[in-house]
Amino acid sequence: MKIGVLSGGGDAPGINAVIRAVVRKGIRHYGDDIVGIRDGWRGLLEGEYLPLDLHSASGILPRGGSILGTSRTNPFKHEGGPEKMMANAEKAGIEAVVVIGGDDTLSVAHKMGEFGLKCVGVPKTIDNDLSGTDYTFGFNTAVSIATEALDRLHTTAETHRRVMILEVMGRYTGWIALEAGIAGGADVILVPEKPFDVDEVCDYIRQRHERGRNFSIVVVAEGAKPKGGEEIVYSESIDEFGHIRLGGVGYYLGKEIEKRLGVETRVVVLGHIQRGGSPTAFDRILATRFGIAAIDLVHEGKFGHMVAIKGNRIVSVPLKDVVGKRKTVDLELYEIAKVFFG
Ligand code: F6P
Repeated sequence: MKIGVLSGGGDAPGINAVIRAVVRKGIRHYGDDIVGIRDGWRGLLEGEYLPLDLHSASGILPRGGSILGTSRTNPFKHEGGPEKMMANAEKAGIEAVVVIGGDDTLSVAHKMGEFGLKCVGVPKTIDNDLSGTDYTFGFNTAVSIATEALDRLHTTAETHRRVMILEVMGRYTGWIALEAGIAGGADVILVPEKPFDVDEVCDYIRQRHERGRNFSIVVVAEGAKPKGGEEIVYSESIDEFGHIRLGGVGYYLGKEIEKRLGVETRVVVLGHIQRGGSPTAFDRILATRFGIAAIDLVHEGKFGHMVAIKGNRIVSVPLKDVVGKRKTVDLELYEIAKVFFG
C-alpha cells in the first residue's frame, strides 16, 4: 500500500519517533511504500513530498521537531482546497494518510473523510488538551522542561527574595502549568480553566511572607485570564484556524503583584524552549506505540479513527468523537495542587 504521513500544527517532541515507527513497521512488516507529506496539509494541497525509507527514517528517534516540517495550513480556507488535495493524493498514488496533529489538524482529517481521503490520526500536542486520549505525546517533555525551569527559578528566587513568575504554554487548558507546578513545588498555579483574582494571588504570597518564606514561585498558563477579563494577547494576527497569538499574562501579573505588595517580581516566559529539543523517554515510547498502532489501523481499514492511550493501553477512538472537544484539566488534581498554595 502507498501511505502518506504528515505532521501539522505546532511541533511537539516525538513526531519523528512516530514517523520512524510508521516507516519501520510499514515497510518491514507490511511491505508498504511510505511517503512524507511536507508541512502538514500544505504539502498535500501543493503536492510536496519527501520519500521515506528505512535509511531516511533512521537515527531520528531522539530528534525534536519534525523531519517533514509542519504548518497551520487549513485547506478548507483555500478555494477548492479539499478537491485539490484529493486530486494530488490520487496523482501521487497515496491510498491512506497517517495524520499526526492536534485538534485543528485532526479536524481536517475528519472532514476530509467526507471527500474520500482515508485517514488515521495520531494525537500530538504539548498542551495535552485533546479529548479521547489520556495523554498526547510531547506533553511529558514540556512538563519536564518546565519543571527543570522551576527548580532553577527556586534557587535564584530564594537568594534574591523575589517573586518569580513562570509563564508556560497552554492556550485553552492548563495541563502543563498544573503538572509542572505540582512537580516543581509552585506556590500558586493559574490555569485558563479557573479565572484568577489578583488579590487572591497576592494573599498567597503575603501568607508565605508572614511565615518567613520571603520568596514565591507562581506558574501561569499563557491562556489564564483575570476574573471578568480577557486573555492577554501578544499579537492580533490570526492563523487559518482562527487562533490569536497569546502571551504576556506573566508580565501583567508581575506588575500587579509589585504594585500591590511592593515585592520585587520577575517574569520568565518559557515559550518554545518547552516545545523544542529531544523527547523524554516517556514521549519516545508513547510516540513509538502510537506510530505502530497507526500503521496497524491503516491495515485494519479503520479509517476516521485516532490512536489513543487509555490507562496504559493503546486503543482507537473515532475522530468524530474527539475533534472540536477539549480535555480540560483534572479538577481533582488542581485541588491537590491547591493544598500547597501559599
Ligand atoms: O498548541 C500548542 C501550542 O504550543 C500552544 O500552547 C501555543 O499557544 C501555540 O501552540 C503556539 O503556537 P506557535 O508556535 O505557532 O505560535
